[in-house]
Amino acid sequence: MKERLQKIQEDAMRQINEAVNLSVLNDVRVAFLGKKGELTAVLKGMKDVAPEDRPKVGQFVNEARKQIEEALESTKEKLEKAALDKKLKEEVIDVTLPAKRNKIGHRHPNTLVLDEVERIFTGMGYEVVEGPELEYDYYNFEALNIPANHPAKDEQDTFYIDDKILLRTQTSPVQVRVMEKQKPPIRMIAPGRVFRADEVDATHSPSFHQIEGMVIDKNVTFSDLKGTLTMFVQQMFGKDTKVKFRPHHFPFTEPSAEMDISCFKCGGKGCRFCKGEGWIEILGCGMVHPRVLRMSGIDPEEYQGFAFGVGLERISLLKYEIDDMRLLYENDERFLKQF
Ligand code: DAH
Repeated sequence: MKERLQKIQEDAMRQINEAVNLSVLNDVRVAFLGKKGELTAVLKGMKDVAPEDRPKVGQFVNEARKQIEEALESTKEKLEKAALDKKLKEEVIDVTLPAKRNKIGHRHPNTLVLDEVERIFTGMGYEVVEGPELEYDYYNFEALNIPANHPAKDEQDTFYIDDKILLRTQTSPVQVRVMEKQKPPIRMIAPGRVFRADEVDATHSPSFHQIEGMVIDKNVTFSDLKGTLTMFVQQMFGKDTKVKFRPHHFPFTEPSAEMDISCFKCGGKGCRFCKGEGWIEILGCGMVHPRVLRMSGIDPEEYQGFAFGVGLERISLLKYEIDDMRLLYENDERFLKQF
């Protein structure tokens, strides 16, 4: 009997030592001390032990039980501590690591330029207005003194919806819409999308943006146009920017001009950026044609005005030295995140 108990105790101790986690340890407890456990079985067998031996055997059993219980308890504590240590180690947070940066969007170069243009002109008292992209032939051409046989009206240049409606090829029709509704003095800019039947390449796109500008008041002269546009480009490209006006033709202005700015890369000496010219063409402008004023209900004897139209992409490409217009439309993150 004593040997049997010793064997049970040794087995229990070995298994307790070998237990790798709490659940295995619990299995060991059940196997020895549980209702059907080995030690319990011995206790149940006491009735077969001779009465005089019972106290001794009982003492052995109790001792074995005590030892097993103690071993179970201390191993349980050990395993619990190990489990906790492991968990703490796994969940450790290194507070010295740099924080993860959230990706945030970037504003498109066209948006940056448009905001700047609007800031400059609203600062001079201009109103920002919009007109429809789907436009009547009347506003896009006729009311701007562009005759029926004008080459710009060719289907090769203009997307026609039907014979009266088209996708506007310029923002100039907004001039007419404003003059029809508003009494002078008028000071407005009209940014927006325009459309032309062009093939895509580094400098062309079937859809791009223009910013139209117009001032109508009493005693407005070409000097006002020059002063205003000089102020505009000096704020946009730097205060040393010089301007040059070349005579040009637009049906809706008389006289008309194209304005060049001195190259802001070389200051006018001539470089690769300005193709050795020292000057860069930037916009079209002129004094609003009396016919255009009259057609829109404004008396050209009483009021005069100037107007200009500038390509938004043209400014973006120049200002940020982008050499291919397609980059502005492709939404490549590697490009956009530079702004
Ligand atoms: N609409 C012209 C174009 O698309 C640009 C332009 C030139 C607008 C002269 C004007 C202007 O208002 O006065 O080429």
